[in-house]
Amino acid sequence: MSEPTTTSQPDEQDTADRGANRSHRPASTAFKTFVMSQWAPRAELGLKASAAAPFTVARRAALSERLPGMRLVIPAGSLKTRSNDTDYRFRPHSAFAHLTGLGTDHEPDAVLVLHPVADGAGDHGSNHHAVLYVRPLAPRDNEEFYADARYGEFWVGARPSLADIEALTGIEARHIDELGDALAKDVGEGGVRLLVVTDADEAIEALVEELRQEAGETEDEEILTDEILVEATSELRLIKDEYEIERMREAVARTIEGFEAVVRALPAAKKHRRGERVVETTFDGHARLEGNAVGYETIAASGEHATTLHWIRNDGEVRSGDVLLLDGGVEVDSLYTADITRSLPVDGEYSDVQRKIYQAVLDAADAAFAVAKPGAKFRDVHAAAMEVIAARLEEWGFLPDGVTAADALDEDGQQHRRWMVHGTSHHLGLDVHDCAQARRELYLDGVLEPGMVFTIEPGLYFKSDDLAVPEEFRGIGVRIEDDVLVTEDGNENLSAALPRRPEDVEAWMASLR
Ligand code: GLY
Ligand code: MN
Ligand code: MN
Repeated sequence: MSEPTTTSQPDEQDTADRGANRSHRPASTAFKTFVMSQWAPRAELGLKASAAAPFTVARRAALSERLPGMRLVIPAGSLKTRSNDTDYRFRPHSAFAHLTGLGTDHEPDAVLVLHPVADGAGDHGSNHHAVLYVRPLAPRDNEEFYADARYGEFWVGARPSLADIEALTGIEARHIDELGDALAKDVGEGGVRLLVVTDADEAIEALVEELRQEAGETEDEEILTDEILVEATSELRLIKDEYEIERMREAVARTIEGFEAVVRALPAAKKHRRGERVVETTFDGHARLEGNAVGYETIAASGEHATTLHWIRNDGEVRSGDVLLLDGGVEVDSLYTADITRSLPVDGEYSDVQRKIYQAVLDAADAAFAVAKPGAKFRDVHAAAMEVIAARLEEWGFLPDGVTAADALDEDGQQHRRWMVHGTSHHLGLDVHDCAQARRELYLDGVLEPGMVFTIEPGLYFKSDDLAVPEEFRGIGVRIEDDVLVTEDGNENLSAALPRRPEDVEAWMASLR
């Protein structure tokens, strides 16, 4: 299937319309008249408010509270070209998904705008009125209907109407063609300031920049301004509401099923020359069947590959005797994702040295869980895990001569990090590395509060050519990653249903055989 571009003169072609060279689209009036006629009236979709809608009201109000008097522009983003006239599947920017509640496949090119109004005179007593600018479904007498491979109903299915979008989100919906004027209104000296979420939609960013230049803003002011909005939308997600926590539970449950499917597929994986692909496709297939997709590229790393932290090529064998590191997350239709890792003995039982490494990592994870409570700092979680990792490495004699675990834990030491160069935790939610634009004081130096969701994922990775460790340790990588919810009095391991203790992992694998 390729785009039916219009015909053009061969001698006037530039690269952009060379696609016309392979167009078969008929141009006759007879065709146009016929293709646009004799369609039954569109059925009413009868959409109801999404389950997220009541929660998004509060999220927008919180953003409004933080940035009164400014016009806030939050694009969904546009379709991304894979090559020529072929696009990637669409996924909206997470700030847009969070503030509208729109999930799977919604809504390319849409822009959420929070228009400033008098204090308290906005939606639900906030300081802003929200409007969603969208490209609605074209009528059947519009060429887009059959001729537009990117947006046309014949090509990508019917888009929602403005009424559908309003019903679904509870937000006023307007045609995207009104966006330019709406953004420009009252912008200028002493007037409204525009803030846009950057890196979401280049065209919208360019439009905002043009309006600012017309209004005489300097480049420094622009950059500063946008950072404030990007930070605000990221920090708004640090604490998950009740709806989000339920979605996280759902994402974790689907992910655990995916791990079970992989264990069942291990015999097939062992037989295939690219056994890691059997693991990957089993997990990813489950994600597509039961959710929207994977939340990030699945890491299916067997044996030595497990020592490559982001091994996503997944083209290796799964050999008897290996530990298979599977790091996968199902993103559900609301776009929340889990992020879970288990390091599984391919034959169902860990060898002594594998178990030793595994237990050290598990002890580090447990130590991190023990401190992950309201009032602790985010960085304390990592520190607790590192104490255990350093202690084990000292015990095993892996630290350089004369270096104790305490020396290593000192900022000027850190030798233990040779075997775990990554961090222990990151926030999790709509993005696998959620809230990534939050300020340091709210992230690394932030204090844990109920409703936060993050990973605990210590690991130890011994490369096959690592001369600093005994041979029997080489070629083994272990990570254990769980998804944690901070509660009023401690935490809940959301992924606790997936066995973690080595004996439980073995029993669970045996039960799936
Ligand atoms: N799956 C990537 C990570 O654990 O952060
Ligand atoms: Mn992670
Ligand atoms: Mn992970």
